[in-house]
Amino acid sequence: MCSIIGYRGPRPAARVLVGGLRRMEYRGYDSVGVATGSGGRILVKKGVGRVDGVNDSLRLDALPGHAGIGHTRWATQGAPTGANAHPHASSGARVAIVHNGSITNFEALRGSLEARGHRFASETDSEVIANLLESELGGEGGARGAVMRTVAALEGHYAFAALLDDGTIAAARRRAPLIVGVGDGEHYVSSDVLGFVEYTDDAIYVGDGNIVVIDGGGLAVYGADGAPAEARVTKVSRELAGIYKGDYAHYTLKEISEQPTSIIGAGGDERAIAAAARAIAGAKTVYVVGSGTSHNAAIVAKHLLSAHAGIRAEVIVASELPVHAHSLSGGVMLAISQSGESADMLEAARLASAAGVSVVSLVNHPSSSLARESAQVVRINCGPEIGVAATKSFTSQLAALHRITAELGGPRVDMAAVSRALAGALECDRRARGVAAGLRDMDDVYVLGRGVHYAIASEAALKLKELAYIHAEAMHGGELKHGPLALLDARSRVIVINPPGPTHEDALSDAAKIRARGARTIGIDTADAGEYDEWLRIPECEGWMYPLAEIVPAQLVAYYTALERDTDPDHPRNLAKSVTVR
Ligand code: AGP
Repeated sequence: MCSIIGYRGPRPAARVLVGGLRRMEYRGYDSVGVATGSGGRILVKKGVGRVDGVNDSLRLDALPGHAGIGHTRWATQGAPTGANAHPHASSGARVAIVHNGSITNFEALRGSLEARGHRFASETDSEVIANLLESELGGEGGARGAVMRTVAALEGHYAFAALLDDGTIAAARRRAPLIVGVGDGEHYVSSDVLGFVEYTDDAIYVGDGNIVVIDGGGLAVYGADGAPAEARVTKVSRELAGIYKGDYAHYTLKEISEQPTSIIGAGGDERAIAAAARAIAGAKTVYVVGSGTSHNAAIVAKHLLSAHAGIRAEVIVASELPVHAHSLSGGVMLAISQSGESADMLEAARLASAAGVSVVSLVNHPSSSLARESAQVVRINCGPEIGVAATKSFTSQLAALHRITAELGGPRVDMAAVSRALAGALECDRRARGVAAGLRDMDDVYVLGRGVHYAIASEAALKLKELAYIHAEAMHGGELKHGPLALLDARSRVIVINPPGPTHEDALSDAAKIRARGARTIGIDTADAGEYDEWLRIPECEGWMYPLAEIVPAQLVAYYTALERDTDPDHPRNLAKSVTVR
């Protein structure tokens, strides 16, 4: 995933663009670049590395001009090199573009453009957009016509912004986010409202397939056929402008720490929860779909629906749904996605809708593509999550799922009590640092859980992989004896997620078996049950709340292990916050 941004207005464009890119760096951060228009020429600066590093050495923000585009990249087609960094200029230097997405027919397009004399300087799929657009510029309909003909030739998905040498900004989207910020005599285009919310909270969510042109006459939005399209201005929260780390060393730690408050709004409005519960209760089949952390939340959802509502749900990894698409018919898909922009999830939702399955989404971003394509939307409402590793969004997903199951006969959700449980779990911070120090030189860590706690073990293992680059594997406690015991020896570390409840005794006996092989155990429990070499305390609470509380020590351990191993927790290598490519 990449971020794109564009600006045209009275401010020095490059400064606006660099500030916006810094805020959107969570989307991709292997290279960065800016192009501005000045005196009828397009000026480009770009380099490999993070926004601040590249800006310090190249002074991207000093480029002159009042119109420009910018990009941070997460490499997909072509390695993260200076040549592959965006913006890409057309070979005649009349156009520069920034692109997020993937053009699947770029090789054929590149071949035909080369045959017509266009030269290419990168290995990316994106560069064809600049050259196609340049080749169309002389034709009918000005910038609008050129973009219409360009997008008609493109296959795949994209949001791109182009800067023309006359200072026009043109942009288009197909299955990738594009938002216009409307200021006073100025306009922005961006992948995320974070790109411009410092300056304006008036935003237009550009419809799929639409085209945007910003020139001396202002802003115009068109459909793919060139006819004017709806461009409704909505207010986005100004609070977003204040997303700073504050006193925290990293966004990841800030977001772990704010869970006692970020949980409070989980699920949002009562009516949306009740409507989602009704849809699920009335469905003949319930599919719960997600990727990564959201998939782990989906596993929890399956447990909750079964335990509290007697509903048997099927959990499907979003990227695997196409494999099962032929057997979907009717029912409800509970689509869990923090961003609402993961390409695998959007494809899964499209396939489900096509099969007559009604999509109920659980998202953090109510204006996301997934939310807009869903029959019903439940908001997890945890505020913007900047750290690439999902933390507070996971606990809010679980809390929102509990609110839905409460409507179906599950325990009443007392959010204040959940908040207290999370605050209590955060108190293990000092011990978590100690555990992290012991994991510093480990190559493999196992995380064991039984029942619903397996889903939390899976999430804990994901955090260790993402943040600390440690191979971590979740295990069902009962499966130990069916194979994994062979892996264990004195160098093994096993985190045992084991709160009070029906699985406690069995998981303790798992811990004893692990220790008998010489491995060390780290228990996450309300008490030091005697089979743990190290113990991370969670507070006593109602049984249904334990999954929410027990992930917190694991998040802290993963975070501190990242510090021990000198990795950057906010920007794990090779990852992006939301994965908008399939
Ligand atoms: C979580 O820590 C990951 N960064 C990742 O697995 C994420 O949960 C996954 O890509 C799904 O994202 P979504 O919830 O925005 O769809």
